[in-house]
Amino acid sequence: MEKITKLLSQIKQRGLYPDVKVLQSACDTEVIINDKKVLMFGSYNYLGLANHPKIKECAIKAIEKYGVASGGVRLISGTMDIHQMMEKELALFTHYEDALTTGTGFGTNTGLIPAIINLLGSKVKISLFTKDDVILSDELNHASIIDGCRLSKAKVITYSHNDVDDLKSKLVKYKKRRKLIVTDGVFSMDGDIAPLDKIVELAQRYKALTMVDDAHAIGVLGKTGGGTAQYCGVEGKVDINMGTMSKGLGCAGGFVSGGKELIEYLRIACRSYVFSDSMPPVIAASVVAVLGIIKNSPDIRDTLDQKATYFRNGMQEMGFDTLNSATQIIPWLIGDEKKTIEVSKLLFENGIFAPAVRWPAVPKKMARIRFNIMATHTRIQLNRLLSVCEQIGKRFKRDKRYV
Ligand SMILES: Cc1ncc(COP(=O)(O)O)c(C=O)c1O
Repeated sequence: MEKITKLLSQIKQRGLYPDVKVLQSACDTEVIINDKKVLMFGSYNYLGLANHPKIKECAIKAIEKYGVASGGVRLISGTMDIHQMMEKELALFTHYEDALTTGTGFGTNTGLIPAIINLLGSKVKISLFTKDDVILSDELNHASIIDGCRLSKAKVITYSHNDVDDLKSKLVKYKKRRKLIVTDGVFSMDGDIAPLDKIVELAQRYKALTMVDDAHAIGVLGKTGGGTAQYCGVEGKVDINMGTMSKGLGCAGGFVSGGKELIEYLRIACRSYVFSDSMPPVIAASVVAVLGIIKNSPDIRDTLDQKATYFRNGMQEMGFDTLNSATQIIPWLIGDEKKTIEVSKLLFENGIFAPAVRWPAVPKKMARIRFNIMATHTRIQLNRLLSVCEQIGKRFKRDKRYV
């Protein structure tokens, strides 16, 4: 405990402890924090559906029908017809045979990856992989993938971010082993897109299984919102398609879609599915409603893309580094941690919420402000953000501490 006290005081003294802002309103383009209206540029609610009137209506009806909780785990008393309906819709939406869901996306990855790698149980000899097998993981993959890999006890080899040549050299090196390649579809801190077409091609050549985490792409990328594989022209060719309902879909929870037998297996092997309460039925009903809205709003992705491009171009024209962002996630790379925190504070003082992201979420000296654009942001809101960034940029240029 003494160690914790010391560590905490050091972190706080350096001004690095996160300053968590409390929302007093629904998550929308404008929110209330500290009793003041603030523009929201830090939410994952990319399509603006988390507070959509039709979803709220469906959610209220679902509460009236099912109450607020399922009262059990999926394999005992916690499977309701609305869970099955949600999974059927997620499978259809992502063009796979079946899907399963867990309460969080984090839990999906930490249950799914070990289930793919490990023995089902000590006495039952079913194994997709063994401990000698290898997971090839992009170096910028999300923490939940990293933890899932750790729990699997497999040998984990990271390859350089989005670098298919490096991936290839590692596939060659481990040619004789069974391999799983795992990557984020859209990278949550950089906003760039995995080259899934090339990854799938390599996987086929070197006989590896593929898994994508499409948390930031589902509903957002691809012609019908199917995600990164659809965007890259390899829809249905990724073996294990993981995603979340907590971001573009504006709800909560995580899912895996894939072939019928894969999902049938995971229903008994994915520990976060087997040993955790099923998601509240109101969320399942909301997911079904959201998927319906997305299907009937073919322009929603173009709208989001246009707004993200407008803001990204504006930042680049002012000379700010937005890394390789190609999506609604747009970083403003600053580098220095303290400076990044100061920028985030200045943005907030100017009525803008956009978080400072730093180590361990991103590598050291790569601290950044991360802007998340929503399809519902207005041009006026985007212009306001651009103008505040410009003012802050000028101010820092003159600031002797950072020259
Ligand atoms: C790529 C990625 N995967 C998984 C998760 C976890 O999802 P959830 O927030 O639904 O637990 C996140 C969360 O931010 C993420 O960015």
